[in-house]
Amino acid sequence: MNAGLEQIKQEIISGAEEIRSSKEAYEFRKKFLDGKTGKIGLLMREMKNIPPEQRADYGKGVNELKEWALEFLVELDTRIKAKELQERYEAEKIDISLPAVETQQGNLHPITLIRNQLIDIFAGMGFEIYEGTEIETDYYNFTALNTPQDHPARDMQDTFYLSPEFLLRTQTSAGQIHVMENKKPPIKILSPGKVFRSDDDATHSPMFTQMEGLVVDKGITLCDLQGMLDVFVKKIYGEDTKTRLRPSYFPFTEPSVEVDCSCFECGGKGCKLCKGTGWIEILGAGIVNNKVLENCGIDPDEYSGFAFGIGIERTAMLKYGINNIKLLFESDLRVLKQIND
Ligand code: DAH
Repeated sequence: MNAGLEQIKQEIISGAEEIRSSKEAYEFRKKFLDGKTGKIGLLMREMKNIPPEQRADYGKGVNELKEWALEFLVELDTRIKAKELQERYEAEKIDISLPAVETQQGNLHPITLIRNQLIDIFAGMGFEIYEGTEIETDYYNFTALNTPQDHPARDMQDTFYLSPEFLLRTQTSAGQIHVMENKKPPIKILSPGKVFRSDDDATHSPMFTQMEGLVVDKGITLCDLQGMLDVFVKKIYGEDTKTRLRPSYFPFTEPSVEVDCSCFECGGKGCKLCKGTGWIEILGAGIVNNKVLENCGIDPDEYSGFAFGIGIERTAMLKYGINNIKLLFESDLRVLKQIND
């Protein structure tokens, strides 16, 4: 082989030892094999300067060198790429035997759980949901519910007034009026939502949740109320739970009752939870006052109804044995995780 060709061959062999990456290998290959600028390509162009009798030999030599270089550099490229791939495998290795990072699984908040359960129970009895607004007028929250200005019963609910006319609703009972104003009987609605009172201790919070129930139709009596509440307490507190009605007072119902259920902790024998009485107070209810029906344009001679109001926090506290209402609002996962029904 021509000494010049041999020199290029040696240059390729020694240069290859310095190549570390596929990018360098690509540039190295171009340096020799590029059609226009590559060293071997240029040798071909030299042909015209070679004396004619040597051209055949020269051409053969260049071609052999070119073929050799092609094979050598492809092999170099393959080797470098395999090495790079191996290095990537090592660097990106995943140890599938490592324990996975634990992800926290959430659960529904006790208030949401009770709210959903109540909705399920009453929806099964044909109740529809009505959600009112948290800002109400004095008229819907009090006056239309037979609690006019200066009525002493307003004292029972320490109210956050926004203006003389507007307030944060103190009871979901306000929803009764909206529904009766807009719908003719038969009416069967359930109205869950937040209510607000300036009240704050272990069992009271300035914001809490109520669920109002209202049924208006022909011939509705307290028996209908108790029948439905029996179904409700059995589903929430257990099959053996009974209800009893005690006389009470709410301006918007007449008669008004306080509903107790037999103590699900001691079965009625008397314990700490029921303060030895065997009964636990669970909600207020009554027969819708004629005045309220009239305020909404419903004829009390034709229709009657019952209403009830359940405190969701109170229900959750009783059911899950929570003794401080604040635990329901502190979002402490250690507490909430224990309650997933
Ligand atoms: N709104 C009453 C309260 O917040 C609860 C209540 C009592 C609702 C009797 C009623 C009812 O619908 O009939 O204290």
